[in-house]
Amino acid sequence: MEMKWGERYALGIARMDETHREFIDFCNALTAAWPKNEHAPSETSAASNGMPQDFLGQFDAFIEHTAAHFNQENRWMEAVNFPGCHREEHDRVLNVVQEVRKRIEKGDFFLGRRLLEELHPWFDNHIDTMDTALAFYLKEIGFDTEAGTLPESRTETPLTSAHNACDCAVPQTAKTP
Ligand SMILES: [Fe+2]
Ligand SMILES: [Fe+2]
Repeated sequence: MEMKWGERYALGIARMDETHREFIDFCNALTAAWPKNEHAPSETSAASNGMPQDFLGQFDAFIEHTAAHFNQENRWMEAVNFPGCHREEHDRVLNVVQEVRKRIEKGDFFLGRRLLEELHPWFDNHIDTMDTALAFYLKEIGFDTEAGTLPESRTETPLTSAHNACDCAVPQTAKTP
């Protein structure tokens, strides 16, 4: 199903919203490029077990963009010492996408199709929870996402787990014996 950019995705940080618009465009492009007949080999697919090379090329571009998207948010989180498992969720999803890419190349169309189907609900959930919490905090403290800096008047204060957007443990920086 086609994803559509709308106000429900706008988090009020221009750089973040722009990246999310691009993510949606990539997802739609991948869905549109998915072979109509998964079992019909084509001349361009001999080296990829039935999957057209142009699709794999688009998939690689999607992975590259997703890695940059996640790294951008990871950098911001690091700069403001944002707690929680947002970064781990990015790593998990990126690993899954990279793994599925390898499986698609080997002809696992089922897994590829499942991934494309899951991207939309995953993205909706991720925006509604982790990205919303991050955007809220960045705006609250006046973090400059273009420069990657806090206002001069502000010294960064580590957050408490109350801002954690998931139920995994907040990483501890110092362990007591
Ligand atoms: Fe995001
Ligand atoms: Fe995120």
